Amino acid sequence: MKKQISLWLIAAVALLAACNSNQNKTPEAGKYSVTEKSFGVFENQDVTQYTITNPSGMQVSIINYGGTVTSILTPDKDKKMGDVILGFDSLAGYLQKGNPYFGCLVGRYGNRIAKGKFTLEKQNYQLTVNDHGNTLHGGLKGLDKVVWKASKPSGDSSLKLTYTSKDGDQGFPGNLEVEVTYTVTSDNALEISYSATTDKPTPVNLTNHCYFNLSGGKEATILDHELMINADKFTAVDSLLIPTGLLPDVKGTPMDFTSSKKIGKDLDSVKGGYDHNWVLNRKGNTLEQIATVYDAGSGRVLEVFTTEPGLQFYTGNFLDGTLHGKNNWVYAQHAALCLETQHFPDGPNQTSFPNTILRPGEKYSHVTRYKFSTK
Ligand code: GLA
Repeated sequence: MKKQISLWLIAAVALLAACNSNQNKTPEAGKYSVTEKSFGVFENQDVTQYTITNPSGMQVSIINYGGTVTSILTPDKDKKMGDVILGFDSLAGYLQKGNPYFGCLVGRYGNRIAKGKFTLEKQNYQLTVNDHGNTLHGGLKGLDKVVWKASKPSGDSSLKLTYTSKDGDQGFPGNLEVEVTYTVTSDNALEISYSATTDKPTPVNLTNHCYFNLSGGKEATILDHELMINADKFTAVDSLLIPTGLLPDVKGTPMDFTSSKKIGKDLDSVKGGYDHNWVLNRKGNTLEQIATVYDAGSGRVLEVFTTEPGLQFYTGNFLDGTLHGKNNWVYAQHAALCLETQHFPDGPNQTSFPNTILRPGEKYSHVTRYKFSTK
């Protein structure tokens, strides 16, 4: 009898140990966990989807293709979970030609560089161009279109992604070592921490391209979401969205989000919709709250904190209903909004803008936090 009990005990302990080492364990309520599942193959490399769950049940899924955030589940005012970003169910969705940078990491240079040209230390560089003769989001094959190396730091609250962009990649000089850590905090924030080093001077401007719709699939557009951006100025642009160098005041214009207002309120008077960089009111580079979004229907609030000087606010103007996303969602124009924390567009060619050149021996670093709550 005694022997039988101890055999049972051994079996039970072994079973428990097996469950613990199982990477696909189901999240335990009140605890952090990171689970993983296969998400396909790209250029002979495995793509994996990692899901981080925090103790209160907020869930963020990320794939190592493009370091793409594929879903963010947060509670609404009735504690019902909903997915607050646009995306696809499968890797094929993300690989399709019309994928407008859903959820991905953007680099080496987020936003535009005029004609893909810049001069650094008396040398002229030509990047790959992909947007009306300009370079957008790092060129033809930016950091959103490569497979990153993923690792899970201890604590089960984060995912670390690394990538080496080789000297000459898309025309950029220097070997760039990039590291991005996604962390889900206990107070329901997704924190993204970026760093990079180089062996030659090179422009760097990293960001993330999540498309948010706080209704969790209930509202087709974000026109009724209310937005505050703590910025008195924005970077004026030409018809191809290249900065002119001027920084007009937002006061009394449709660009004024210094007090919270509905996104749809003045949108029609902005040609093409909002797709501009706001010059954030801030001193230094500490982590500060710079924007707040509120969706009255769901009660969800998104607060954005960053160390960066600029914010690209984009209202999904190029979405046109042709993309079919996860949960059978159809992505109409203005289905979501992007809040891309960044340095200013075309920084390498605009001497009056904050510096975007990283040099050997220096470390690029940038932290952005998207914090969710309800009211
Ligand atoms: C950024 C740009 C937009 C558009 C989207 C992707 O936000 O500023 O003009 O290119 O990315 O579609």
